[in-house]
Amino acid sequence: MKTLATIAPALCADPEGPEPRITSVDGWTLREYDVVSSTNLLAAKLSAWNAVCARTQTAGRGRFQRNWVSDEGGLWLSAVLPIGTEPHWRTLPLAVGLAVCDALRAMGVQQLRMRWPNDVLVNDRKLAGLLIDQFAPELAVAGIGINVSNQPETRDAALHKQTARLAGLLPVTPALSEVAAAVLRSLHCIVEELRNGGLGSLHSRINLLWGPPRRVELDLDGDIRRGVFTGVDQGGRLILSDDSGRLFSYHSHQVRHLKEI
Ligand code: BTN
Repeated sequence: MKTLATIAPALCADPEGPEPRITSVDGWTLREYDVVSSTNLLAAKLSAWNAVCARTQTAGRGRFQRNWVSDEGGLWLSAVLPIGTEPHWRTLPLAVGLAVCDALRAMGVQQLRMRWPNDVLVNDRKLAGLLIDQFAPELAVAGIGINVSNQPETRDAALHKQTARLAGLLPVTPALSEVAAAVLRSLHCIVEELRNGGLGSLHSRINLLWGPPRRVELDLDGDIRRGVFTGVDQGGRLILSDDSGRLFSYHSHQVRHLKEI
């Protein structure tokens, strides 16, 4: 998770603008903006169970400091989650991926899978991306981007044939408010489960989301390891089986990047 110190300058990025529309959604207070820099940065200033969404982001943030194309028609949502200091909270990124997959499946999306740690894919194309930031002690911001009716490839040619969107996967394109409510509801349940039972109760459900074992290349801070990704263990560590079948496990902070090969 990124800390406040690493991105503090950007926190001043949003000028005072029109007041958001504020609604209550299943235990959440949701602030809806028109245009913001990044919903994660606005959420950084809020307390637990607040959420922010925007029609577009001018500086949407992806993992690895990448830009996240946030064109109109997508869901750009950030939710502030109360977290503890116990080790199981380090598995939050996996749990948030599960929450998003649960919500999308409940809406009728089929053939979803996750790519470690929490990219949501359909037919190897990215439907949703998640960025978990930590700006304050005991609070995490779960930033969730879901392609709904937007067309990110028209903004970035490198995304051609790399993305999926709900409009192409469901018979009727859901309203953004419907997708937001489904995700927030699911996120609430999953955070409560993590709080009450640690990863234990979620572990097997997360492992069902990876699909068949895949050959991957791990970048362990410059040290490259290849093998077959076989899910995560009870402690949330990534398990890699090498070519001789020996199992290795890695904490998420040890893995800079996972590439499917
Ligand atoms: C990724 O690289 O896969 C993570 C993408 C996360 C994008 C979402 S959109 C809402 C929230 N605000 C941001 O600036 N980023 C996240």
